[in-house]
Amino acid sequence: MSQTELDKVARKILTDNDQGGYTVPTKGLYPYQWNWDSVFVARGFATFDTDRAWREIELLFEGQWRDGMVPHILFRKDDPSYFPGPSVWGTDGGPIPSSGHSQPPVAATIVRDLLELDASDAALDRAKLLFPKILQWHRWFMAYRDPDNLGVIAVIHPWESGRDNLPDWDDALRDVEIKDVAPYERKDTSHVDPAMRPHKEDYDRYLSIVAACRKVAWDPEKVARTCPFFVADPGITFILLRACRDLLALADRLGETAAQPEIEGWISRMETGAARLWNAELKAHVAMNLRTGKQTDGVSSASFLAPYAGLTDPEVLKPLQEHFDRISAKIRYLMPSYDPEHQAYEHLRYWRGPVWAMVNFMIARGFAEAGDPGRSDRLRRDTAALIQTGGFAEYFSPETAEAAGGGSFSWTAAIWLAWARPSQADQAA
Ligand code: GLC
Repeated sequence: MSQTELDKVARKILTDNDQGGYTVPTKGLYPYQWNWDSVFVARGFATFDTDRAWREIELLFEGQWRDGMVPHILFRKDDPSYFPGPSVWGTDGGPIPSSGHSQPPVAATIVRDLLELDASDAALDRAKLLFPKILQWHRWFMAYRDPDNLGVIAVIHPWESGRDNLPDWDDALRDVEIKDVAPYERKDTSHVDPAMRPHKEDYDRYLSIVAACRKVAWDPEKVARTCPFFVADPGITFILLRACRDLLALADRLGETAAQPEIEGWISRMETGAARLWNAELKAHVAMNLRTGKQTDGVSSASFLAPYAGLTDPEVLKPLQEHFDRISAKIRYLMPSYDPEHQAYEHLRYWRGPVWAMVNFMIARGFAEAGDPGRSDRLRRDTAALIQTGGFAEYFSPETAEAAGGGSFSWTAAIWLAWARPSQADQAA
C-alpha cells in the first residue's frame, strides 16, 4: 500500500472508531473509552481535525473522579462483549461509570503538542479549561500513588500501568491471594487468539485486586495502604515526570503561574526518586515492589523512557544506548516490550515482547531530545515498517513483524499519522 493509501486508511480507522466525540481502541475487543488510547488518538486527530482532537481529551476528562483520578476505562454505555464491566468494578467516584484506577498520564504532553500545532485563541481557551483538571489529576498521582514521597509512582493494578501482563508484574502478582472472585467468563479470548493474551491465573489475580479495592470502596488512601499490589513503575513514573514538565510549560503559556511551585516540587521529587528504580547491576531503570522493596531484573521498553522524562545524564543515557544496540543486534524490529535476552520474553504475547507503536513514539521523542537523532529515527523507521507490513494492528512481533492482537487499532493509526509515516525527506532520499 502506498503512503497516501495508508494515510487514508489510518484516518478512516479513527473516524470509524469514533463514537461521537470519543474513540474506542478497536471495535469488539475494547468497546469503551480508554484513557491513554484517547490521548494518543487526539494526537492523530490533530493531523486533520483539530476540533475533534480537543474533543477527545475533553470527553476523557468528563469522567474525572471527585478526588482527581481519571479512570482507565469510561463505560459510557453497556457492552456485554467486554469483561470486566462496571458491575465488577463497583465504583462510585465520578459522573460516568468507570473502572477504579487510572492509566499513564500522557494528557499534559499531548495538550502541549496541540497548542504547538495550533495556538489560536480558541485552542488556548480549550487548554485553559483543561489545565486545572490535569493539574488535579497529577496531584492525585502524587498523593495516592506516591504516599510516602519516594518520588516514584506506583500502580495498584497491572492494568494501571497500561502494560498489562509485563513480566515485571509477575512476582508481585504471585503474592496476590486469589480471593473474592465470582465465577466469570473472559471475553478477550473470544476476540483474539488466547496464545497472545494473559493466562487464566493472571486473570484471577487481576480480579482479586479489583475485589480488594472494592472492599475499601476505592477510597484512594485506603487503596494505597492496603492494596495487595503496589509496585513502582518506571513507565508511569517517567510519563508523569515528562507530563509535569509539559504542565509546567503550559502553566507558563496560560498564565497559571500560581501552580508552578507545586509542579516544580513534583518534578524535583521524581527526578531524585527515579534513582530508586535504577538497577545497578543491569544498568537500567526497573520496577520495584513497594510492599517488599524488591526490584525486578529485566530491561523493559519503559527503561528507555528515561530520556523522555528528561533524565539524560551520561550515566543513564550511555548504558541505555548500549542496551538499545544490544537489543537491536538480537531482533529485527525495535523496541520489544521486554528484553529478548530475558527468560520471560515471548515475542507474540502482548506485553511480554511485542512492539507497540505509541511506546516507540515516546521513546523516540526522548532520544531525539537527548541529542540522539540516529536511534530516534531507527525507532520511527521500524514502526513505519511494521505498519507497512502488518497494517494497523494492536502490536507486532519484534522478530517477524507479524501483526497481533486487535486490528484496525486507533492508537496505531494515530501514531502513524502523527509521527511514524515516512516524511517527504525520506521519500526524496
Ligand atoms: C490493553 C493495553 C492497554 C490499552 C488497552 C486498550 O489493555 O494493555 O494499554 O490501553 O488495551 O487499547
